[in-house]
Amino acid sequence: MYNENRFYIGDASKNPDKYNGQTVTVRAWVYNKRSSGKIKFLILRDGTGLLQTVLVKGECPDSAFDDFEKLTQESSVIITGVLRKEPRSPGGVEMGLRTLQIHSLAEAYPISHKEHGVEFLMENRHLWLRTPRQAAVMKIRAEIIKAIRDFYDERDFTLFDAPILTPSSCEGTSTLFQTPYFEQKAFLTQSGQLYGEVGAMALGKVYVFGPTFRAEKSKTRKHLTEFWMMEPEMAWYDLDDNMALAEEMIKYIFQRVITKRALELKTLERDISKLEKVKRPFPRISYEDALKVLEKKGVGVPWGEDFGAPQETALGEDFDGKPVFIHRFPKQIKSFYFKTDPQNPKYALGCDLIAPDGYGEVIGGGQREDDCKVLEKSIEEHGLKKSDYEWYLDLRRYGSVPHAGFGLGLERTVAWICGLDHVRETIPFARMINTLRP
Ligand code: 4AD
Ligand code: MG
Repeated sequence: MYNENRFYIGDASKNPDKYNGQTVTVRAWVYNKRSSGKIKFLILRDGTGLLQTVLVKGECPDSAFDDFEKLTQESSVIITGVLRKEPRSPGGVEMGLRTLQIHSLAEAYPISHKEHGVEFLMENRHLWLRTPRQAAVMKIRAEIIKAIRDFYDERDFTLFDAPILTPSSCEGTSTLFQTPYFEQKAFLTQSGQLYGEVGAMALGKVYVFGPTFRAEKSKTRKHLTEFWMMEPEMAWYDLDDNMALAEEMIKYIFQRVITKRALELKTLERDISKLEKVKRPFPRISYEDALKVLEKKGVGVPWGEDFGAPQETALGEDFDGKPVFIHRFPKQIKSFYFKTDPQNPKYALGCDLIAPDGYGEVIGGGQREDDCKVLEKSIEEHGLKKSDYEWYLDLRRYGSVPHAGFGLGLERTVAWICGLDHVRETIPFARMINTLRP
């Protein structure tokens, strides 16, 4: 039954003084149990934290001791007891058990407290999510989403939802997922950007936030086939405005997680000093200068080539834990919609943000081509069908203005903040080349 005063373990950890001495009921699952002589310890989890409950003879009925013996990992229970402040316990409180009711005795649970291989854990993702580490990652992911939305809402951006079924590509045709669509074919969206541009012309400042899809054949620690992207798009913004906004947003997200998710960061044993280094201003270097840095570090690439993982890792190393913007890329490695640099037509006015410690490109974006003729030519040069983009060209025909935006990859951001070495743990159910279940 709904009861807004229902007690959760996390409530007590937030305010151990308030709950000291209080009798409460916990509805939870058995995380672990152990014995020390006549005293039994039952460690419970309810999704908001862990609570150690203590069974002492005389303080609870003898039947509770029999039930304790029966309890298996992940059995569900309803327990009443008296809380006391206990600074040595993980949540800052402990419970003296008074009554124990077994709700459902669990079968032998496949995930024990021993180490398991990642493949096994991914197959059992529906259960793996119950472990405190995974729960901490999910809470931080939710906090990041909330921080992003607050950041834009506070700045009068309008949330603008782009379609998932689309008729054409945004980020090249090689990573499109295709699906039959009645008499036509449709593609799962690679990015909401083109629709975000419509929003910017209609509403000034918007952000698109939703799932995006890439048929990525690459098996790396940074690639998913389904991932979430947050994409602001702003009329009357140039490349520098765009980088300034991205920088402010990243700092905002980090500060929010540091202050509101300290407990979860501790569960993950994340080094907070690393997160605190993410302060403005972030360095900005051109592609041309980045090539020189890479050359010196022995991972140089010829002019005109895109950076891969070794290049991104090397670039992320150099700025004392801060992420770095790389801007002005050779036109040939960028999508059709980038504005050509008026200073030098070899370049596209793009900007990528590369995170430190090998987390790679977390943001990709830039200024958009606002000249109709130039854009038409670019669509053609990229081998795209002009008729698919007439509506997009209309934005240039009717009151074209300079505008810019970017896409933040949510899962890479979660991996960076949580200190995880693979994006598969940053989303409840990762979709990758060989992973479609559960
Ligand atoms: O650099 P990308 O491809 O840029 C765009 O899609 C633009 N249309 C965005 C815009 O300007 N509105 O992707 C943006 C970000 C990357 O920097 C990365 O963080 C993430 O999306 N990303 C992926 N994350 C996980 N798995 C993948 N396969 C990803 N591809 C891109
Ligand atoms: Mg990119």
